Amino acid sequence: MSLLDNLKWRYATKKYDKTKKVSEEDVARIVEAARLAPTSSGMQQFRVLVISNQELKEQIVPIASGQQIVADCSHLLVFAAWDKYTEERIDNIYQVTTTERGLNEGHFNDYTNRLKSVYLQQSPEENFAHTARQAYIGLGLAIAAAAELKLDSTPMEGFNNAALDDLLGLQAQGLKSVLLLPVGYRDAANDWLVNMKKVRNAEAHFATYIK
Ligand SMILES: Cc1cc2nc3c(=O)[nH]c(=O)nc-3n(C[C@H](O)[C@H](O)[C@H](O)COP(=O)(O)O)c2cc1C
Repeated sequence: MSLLDNLKWRYATKKYDKTKKVSEEDVARIVEAARLAPTSSGMQQFRVLVISNQELKEQIVPIASGQQIVADCSHLLVFAAWDKYTEERIDNIYQVTTTERGLNEGHFNDYTNRLKSVYLQQSPEENFAHTARQAYIGLGLAIAAAAELKLDSTPMEGFNNAALDDLLGLQAQGLKSVLLLPVGYRDAANDWLVNMKKVRNAEAHFATYIK
């Protein structure tokens, strides 16, 4: 099946079969798709936490407005982004790239100075608005990777970010939660959405071709 067929097959699953578990190999493929996401200036401003611990998933249900899918899914992915930019974070990323590409020390100095002059004079909130956007790119690729593996997933913004950050100790890691992605197998017999038509803007409304 092509990517487009798989994207038509997927839907924001509302009911998971809690008896079915996704293999660790398949979870790793989904995480890898997110890791390969392009990010602004290649800074890889987000991380993914993969929760399969049932007790912890249950604890997240009330934080996610009672959405039971976070407990019934097989694995719950949490996308979390840098809470702010720092000189050290920018330098670290470009130090790794310099080393891995065998470039001369200081190769990126002009560029990192430009990045610092933009991001370090912004507020942490403005920084996070930017870092969080990178997490959405990873989310999109993870959803597509799951669909290619015929695994179900549900992108979720409907949760209390601050409460989840507390529960997972994200603040101490300089991270803030952005998105949740339950992954698992649909419970087709009990999911009200499974047979509903996928509704999107008509192509003519969506894309404008300027030739
Ligand atoms: C960023 C984002 C946040 C979402 N948050 C939730 C959520 O908290 N709970 C939920 O059940 N669905 C959530 N959805 C699912 C959307 O409602 C769904 O993707 C949309 O209606 C399109 O339907 P489809 O994904 O089935 O094609 C979210 C989707 C996105 C992209």
